[in-house]
Amino acid sequence: MLIDSHAHLDDEKFDEDRDELINLLKQNGVELVLNPGCDVKTSERSIQLSEKYDMIYAAVGTHPEDADKMDEETLELYKKYALNKKVLAIGEIGLDYYYDNSPREYQRKWFREQVKLAKQLDMPYIVHDRDAHEDVFNIMKEEHYSGARGILHCYSGNIELAKEFIKMGFLISLGGPVTFKNSKVSKKVAFEIPLEHLLIETDSPYLAPEPFRGKRNQPALVKYVAEEIAKIKGVSYDEVVNKTNSNFKRLFKIN
Ligand code: NI
Repeated sequence: MLIDSHAHLDDEKFDEDRDELINLLKQNGVELVLNPGCDVKTSERSIQLSEKYDMIYAAVGTHPEDADKMDEETLELYKKYALNKKVLAIGEIGLDYYYDNSPREYQRKWFREQVKLAKQLDMPYIVHDRDAHEDVFNIMKEEHYSGARGILHCYSGNIELAKEFIKMGFLISLGGPVTFKNSKVSKKVAFEIPLEHLLIETDSPYLAPEPFRGKRNQPALVKYVAEEIAKIKGVSYDEVVNKTNSNFKRLFKIN
């Protein structure tokens, strides 16, 4: 069955029909969803969702967009939340130089501190990287440790860098953009990176795959990402679904 490695079901865009939509996911072939937080509030909401639904797992962390609101107290809070057994990772964390919603030095500081937290907790971490490939790589490299692992979410970098992240113990997660006609780099990554190192995701409610581009995304649409990767690689849909499923479970050590 499908695993959506990254969705924000706590987003207000699901307020109208969240329970209904989640209750239909199994029927739509989705086994599991990882719902990362972006700040304290959304991390708490992720945990609440994960406690309400078996199939939902949470991650806790502060997105680069909110790095200027991050502090030591919040770090301590995440440390406490991470003890919850439905919390699988620290995330999403990283750098976003496209929107630049927080000053870059804050983004870098709190990305680094949260990587250190993942290390301290021996947990995977989930990386958001938008137009900041070099700095993301450098911080991860500088803070690298044996046992480091996690996900490069909605990966948008090139193949060479993807190979470096894989060497560091990370999986490359592809989302809706791989289905867009103009996203040559994502398609190339899908073609060249072996299935053993790939995950699939939606980043719901954002980045809906074709043929739903521009509409609200939701975890059931992750199948279009799997279909596109199968097409690009020339393998069966089932192979993509099964491999990405077992990659996810291996990373997070779940059944
Ligand atoms: Ni996200």
